[in-house]
Amino acid sequence: MTDEAAVVIGATGGVGAAVVERLRASGRYAMIHALSRSGTGLDLEDEATIAAAAGTVAEGPVPTLVFVATGVLHHGQSPERTYRALTAEHLMRDYRVNTVGPALVARHFLPLLPRDRRAVFVALSARVGSIGDNRLGGWHAYRASKAALNMILTNLSIELARSHPQAVIAGLHPGTVDTGLSQPFQKGVSPERLFTPDRSAQALLAVLDGLTPADSGGVFAWDGARIPA
Ligand SMILES: NC(=O)c1ccc[n+]([C@@H]2O[C@H](COP(=O)([O-])OP(=O)(O)OC[C@H]3O[C@@H](n4cnc5c(N)ncnc54)[C@H](OP(=O)(O)O)[C@@H]3O)[C@@H](O)[C@H]2O)c1
Repeated sequence: MTDEAAVVIGATGGVGAAVVERLRASGRYAMIHALSRSGTGLDLEDEATIAAAAGTVAEGPVPTLVFVATGVLHHGQSPERTYRALTAEHLMRDYRVNTVGPALVARHFLPLLPRDRRAVFVALSARVGSIGDNRLGGWHAYRASKAALNMILTNLSIELARSHPQAVIAGLHPGTVDTGLSQPFQKGVSPERLFTPDRSAQALLAVLDGLTPADSGGVFAWDGARIPA
């Protein structure tokens, strides 16, 4: 065990909870902060709660992993299949949670990362956030919010490389995972492509272990393959 801490934001989510379990089982961290909206009151739409959580983390062992596992796809409204279904409300909601939220987490948690050793900041993105890989269209708000998240992560990596040469910042695609988020869209996904949260968490943590500062700013799938911007 090291004297380091790990932070998981979205620890109540399907993937987030499995990541917390895997990190606990690894015994690698002196402390694991399992933060969430429904569990600890960290609401991505309320910056004061993000700042307060960062303040609490700052009082303990130095965090060398910040894992943002939050996200929304549908809540009460299905993702749009056509531009005719676009609404400002839907677009703004997905941006607030999927883009602005992780950016504010970075604002408050990046200052806690050590400069003298490897430190990792990752956020769960999605393959459908890739502009180069977009062949199907649809899901306008979700895709756009994840594409914007990917740009934020690339931007952060460029800035952080100057002060934290050993840091890695990345987006991760967890695969299609059997969680509440994907539940309405699992029809047609073959059983071997529908991961349990634990299977995904295991794969994602293995990918993280293999990332170097040269990879910083990229988005990587569960199998380690880089996803085009
Ligand atoms: N599942 C998939 O197949 C799949 C595929 C590609 C990408 N992803 C991405 O993976 C990530 C995790 O997805 P999941 O499948 O684990 O989803 P999930 O089970 O629905 O979990 C979503 C998590 O996001 C949190 N959250 C939502 N709004 C929040 C807010 N305003 N403030 C703080 N936390 C908030 C929830 O917190 P509370 O429950 O505490 O409110 C929950 O912990 C998402 O970014 C998703 O886009 C998932």
